[in-house]
Amino acid sequence: MKIVVIQGPNLNMLGIREKNIYGPMKLEDIHAQMKAFADQNKTEIEFFQSNLEGEIVDRIQECIGDADGIIINPAAYTHTSIAIRDAIAAVQIPTIEVHLSNIYQREEFRHKSLTAAVCAGQITGMGPFGYHLAMVGMTQILSEVAAMKEHQAKAQAAAQQK
Ligand code: DQA
Repeated sequence: MKIVVIQGPNLNMLGIREKNIYGPMKLEDIHAQMKAFADQNKTEIEFFQSNLEGEIVDRIQECIGDADGIIINPAAYTHTSIAIRDAIAAVQIPTIEVHLSNIYQREEFRHKSLTAAVCAGQITGMGPFGYHLAMVGMTQILSEVAAMKEHQAKAQAAAQQK
């Protein structure tokens, strides 16, 4: 099982940027915690951060045939990017959207997520812990997908024997 974590613009500035909103933790520390959880669960994990919309679209597309799940914080692109939304919809890979801050408590322009509707779920306002919750959620989704595939394979094999 492999999870790809995609971080949008300015998230490379965590720990420096608006600490009153995003807290003191750096992105690499968040990723270290996610990696520890992934290792415990024998899951492969890969991290990607970009400030460029097209690079994020490319990385989502590259997940086809490579990743079983995507955890994404599209950052400001959450509120503007039809291209990122379309890429998530196109790849048909379970995706969880994460925001450190509670976007619904903030400025009105942050209340709308263009990407959430094509994701399995959204975690917002839990700070860095939101990424851990996303890992737990994704582990559950992936085990349900695996169980469903196994069930389908068994049903197919049984049907062929008739
Ligand atoms: C954010 C919320 C966005 O509105 C903002 O543009 C970000 C970070 C968050 O994690 O809380 O860059 O996605």
